[in-house]
Amino acid sequence: MCGIVGYVGTEQAAPVLLQGLEKLEYRGYDSAGIAVQQNGIFTVKTKGRLADLKQKIKQDILGHVGIGHTRWATHGAPSDINSHPHSSENGRISVVHNGIIENYMELKEFLQQQGKKFVSETDTEIIAQLFDYYYQGDLVDTMIKVIDKIRGAYALGVLCEEHPEEIVAVRKDSPLLVGLGKNENYIASDIPALLEYTRDYYLLEDNEIVLLKKDSVQIFDLHKKEIKKDIFHVDWDVSAAEKDGYDYFMMKEIVEQPESLRKTIFPRIKENTIQLDQIELTAEQVKKINRIHIVACGSAWHASIVGKYVIEKLARIPVEVDLASEFRYRQPILQKDDLCIIVSQSGETADTLAALREAKKHGIRVLSIVNVVGSSIARESDDVIYTWAGPEIAVATTKGYSTQLSVMYLLALYFGSAKELISSQEMMEYIDKLKKVPDDVEKLLEVEERMKALTEQYANTKDVFVIGRGIDYAAALEGSLKLKEISYIHSEAYAAGELKHGTISLVEEGTLVIAIATQQNLFEKLVSNIKEVKARGASVIAIAVEGSESIEKVADEVFYIPKTNELFTASATLVPMQLFAYYIAVQRGCDVDKPRNLAKSVTVE
Ligand code: F6R
Repeated sequence: MCGIVGYVGTEQAAPVLLQGLEKLEYRGYDSAGIAVQQNGIFTVKTKGRLADLKQKIKQDILGHVGIGHTRWATHGAPSDINSHPHSSENGRISVVHNGIIENYMELKEFLQQQGKKFVSETDTEIIAQLFDYYYQGDLVDTMIKVIDKIRGAYALGVLCEEHPEEIVAVRKDSPLLVGLGKNENYIASDIPALLEYTRDYYLLEDNEIVLLKKDSVQIFDLHKKEIKKDIFHVDWDVSAAEKDGYDYFMMKEIVEQPESLRKTIFPRIKENTIQLDQIELTAEQVKKINRIHIVACGSAWHASIVGKYVIEKLARIPVEVDLASEFRYRQPILQKDDLCIIVSQSGETADTLAALREAKKHGIRVLSIVNVVGSSIARESDDVIYTWAGPEIAVATTKGYSTQLSVMYLLALYFGSAKELISSQEMMEYIDKLKKVPDDVEKLLEVEERMKALTEQYANTKDVFVIGRGIDYAAALEGSLKLKEISYIHSEAYAAGELKHGTISLVEEGTLVIAIATQQNLFEKLVSNIKEVKARGASVIAIAVEGSESIEKVADEVFYIPKTNELFTASATLVPMQLFAYYIAVQRGCDVDKPRNLAKSVTVE
């Protein structure tokens, strides 16, 4: 979604803003712009990519204070006029905004009645006009008045011609952080934008207003009382957000999976037990859990479905899995001893955050599985288990998803053991297999060349079905999403037993079916499903466990994963599908890291 960068300092602002925006490209965008204080506010903006913006900058932009934005269109199509920054009619105020102002129509009418003229279709322009309307010389006072009038989600960065050395900013339900430097300070939507300049940040809570000058950062509440905050230090190195010689971030992140998994799993295994030191949920509380609601969006929802299978099996606690966008509005039945598990790589997904708040409103304990430290979801949860995947830049998640799966395994074992359902001998065996998950994933990375060659054959495929049963079905959902989101090939995941209840009518000569068959008790049934689609002309790529070579009699190609506990197979299973999606997308000339219409961090509902 939209990306914001702001700079106040002694360097030229424009290059810092452009470089910061480049680092936020992964969030997805369709237009970009910057505004810099240089004897008045100079703005340049355009529909298209940052390269288009750079081309449009014909002269040196000289000035030490500025704001920049990448826009992901919500109100009004991508166009030069709708791009940010937006100005007040008199040009005195300039605003960048991430989020949606829900009451913008009524505010627009009000401002029009005051004689203000608008040029864009955006909700953001009303903020610039409103800010100007209320402005009486003090930026913080004005921001307080503006916030009082607007409803919705926002991260705002504002310039005012009469304060050429300052930026005022605020956030509510949209991410924004403050980067701290020496004689320079920053705002940004996400850490990678500023990693090159600083590792020290203030994380803002909702409606905290920041007044940024080159040598000071002041944070105020809505009563203009100054707030003191702790500095949050990140230890990521710059290369964590660089491609490191890979063509795309997605491939780098696929390859990083074994390492991310080791970082996520190993510190939580101590003396053959699962130790989740960072959470306060005790064994006694686990025993009392009546039902678990796992809530997430997209791939995180797919990881949650694997979580349901594993937790129900090991801990015998009923688990419901909900899409956050449904959960938040369907008045879910939440009871006192229920636990809500929120899963989110970014920790900022608007629907997921709203679902968390819905659960908390009902007094339900919330445990979240999050990758981005200090994100909104992490901060608002009772307990957080971090997935130590490091920054994930490609829009399509890979290591984020894999590490979420591994936390599901850890949690299921933790719950099962708290409920005394797993003996110490069994626990040793589970842990032995769990520790091998990163190696299994690493082994599957070896199929890269074979997969690359295979995708040449399938680059023009029109329809793909990914089928599986049980955990394999959950893995199929994620494999199918990877394919459609980055290669734009139509793909559907199906519970294999459900295929003949309608969908098999779509299978014809040339349809590709990817069949996942890692669950031994369901193996024969899956083989029968493969025969059914083969009989209708489908080509079949199968993913199975070493030792089940009989599948070669029915499938055209087989990829084998190492033998492991059946509860953990989804991790290795996914790698061939990630590679398949990646190479198909490359073959088709798609922009792998930034697929059309998609955004990395979906901060609007
Ligand atoms: C797909 C993908 C999305 C995200 C979803 C939730 O590759 O990345 O489906 O999984 O938007 O995002 P987070 O996990 O950040 O809440």
